[in-house]
Amino acid sequence: KELPHISMCVSATDFEKAAKAVLPHKSYIYASTSANTGLSLKDNLDDWGRVNFRPRVMRNVGDVDTRRKIFGHESPYPFYISPMGTMGAIHEGAEPEMYKGAVRKGIHTVVSTASTKSTEQIMQSFVEEQEKMKGASPTRLFYQYYMPVDRKKAIELMRIVKKCGYKGLWITVDTPVLGKRTADRYLQAEEAMAVGIEEESTAEWETGGDNAFAPAMGGRPVQGQLSPHITWEDLKWIRKEWEGPIVLKGIQCAEDAKLAMEYGCNGILLSNHGGRQLHTAPSALMTLCEIRTYCPEVLKKIEVFLDGGLRDGNDVLKALCLGATAVGVGRPFLYALGAYGSKGVERCVDVLAEELQTGMRLLGVTSLDQCRPQMVNASRLLNE
Ligand code: FNR
Repeated sequence: KELPHISMCVSATDFEKAAKAVLPHKSYIYASTSANTGLSLKDNLDDWGRVNFRPRVMRNVGDVDTRRKIFGHESPYPFYISPMGTMGAIHEGAEPEMYKGAVRKGIHTVVSTASTKSTEQIMQSFVEEQEKMKGASPTRLFYQYYMPVDRKKAIELMRIVKKCGYKGLWITVDTPVLGKRTADRYLQAEEAMAVGIEEESTAEWETGGDNAFAPAMGGRPVQGQLSPHITWEDLKWIRKEWEGPIVLKGIQCAEDAKLAMEYGCNGILLSNHGGRQLHTAPSALMTLCEIRTYCPEVLKKIEVFLDGGLRDGNDVLKALCLGATAVGVGRPFLYALGAYGSKGVERCVDVLAEELQTGMRLLGVTSLDQCRPQMVNASRLLNE
């Protein structure tokens, strides 16, 4: 199939069609797969449509300001690129190609432990790209931490991250074991049949494989390399090693949001891992509503992020109205990378940014700090 011209990508969802047309089937499955029957992924996408705006009119919306800070680091927009592993399976330039797009647009990103390139290589190529952008809004790299099973290795990795200058540690806590990735299971079965049932499949990606800490091979996380043993108590030694901001990625209920705050985390990221982990886990939007009801103080005391199914600048705006600091966008950037490289990433930022600006004007706000819960109606989501 032919790759559509990039100008045909006018919505973040268009990049998926483009990527599907050009990526190897296995790469597309890696990006798109979700857990079990896919209900969490579906909720992630659908729940945004169950929240309506309550727009205000005649508010002089000629100029709008979309800037937002994440732990004091300014970004031109309140969204960042979610951490996603093994980008070498999606584009030969892997993570550096993705982050080139981010640097050019000034948005922050969170780098995955499961990256194709090493923690050091990614930072180095990022710094080189940043130097070309003299004077522009500086983007920041945060680090997504999958705690290695071995404590010594866990500390070593954290020290590398610190030495490289990443600005925050986002500890993924929704993956003590890997969820059941259904489409990938079909693919594994097909691969096994293709080489004969008795034989192990040898088909693997040339991913660069530069990252010794990646708990993944050929895009598939390896069960034994994710630590199922992580507990709240681990935060104590992690805090001793890491003075900067700590965010728990994958908070899915109000009780854990409160615990994270009590354990001294600087932020939480409400997420069900893009619907790839627990079957029928709630969408982050649903969890945000739960927090508003049961522990709204969390929203005032720490930074609250969310991700999952955001495909329009208006989704971003709704999350901010309900109290989120900023949001993560995953697959649309991965598909954009796969189809068009860093130019696609830039285009995806522009598409979301334009929708956000138009949405703000039509909602009646000129800066993001004017966003209020009264500007949305979530009753359909909560009462259905
Ligand atoms: C992910 N995600 C993820 N999260 C994480 O903490 N570490 C990781 O290595 C990965 N890897 C990864 C790979 C791929 C292909 C996808 C699609 C997702 C989850 C990611 O950070 C984020 O939570 C979701 O992708 C957000 O949902 P959307 O925007 O993809 O719907």
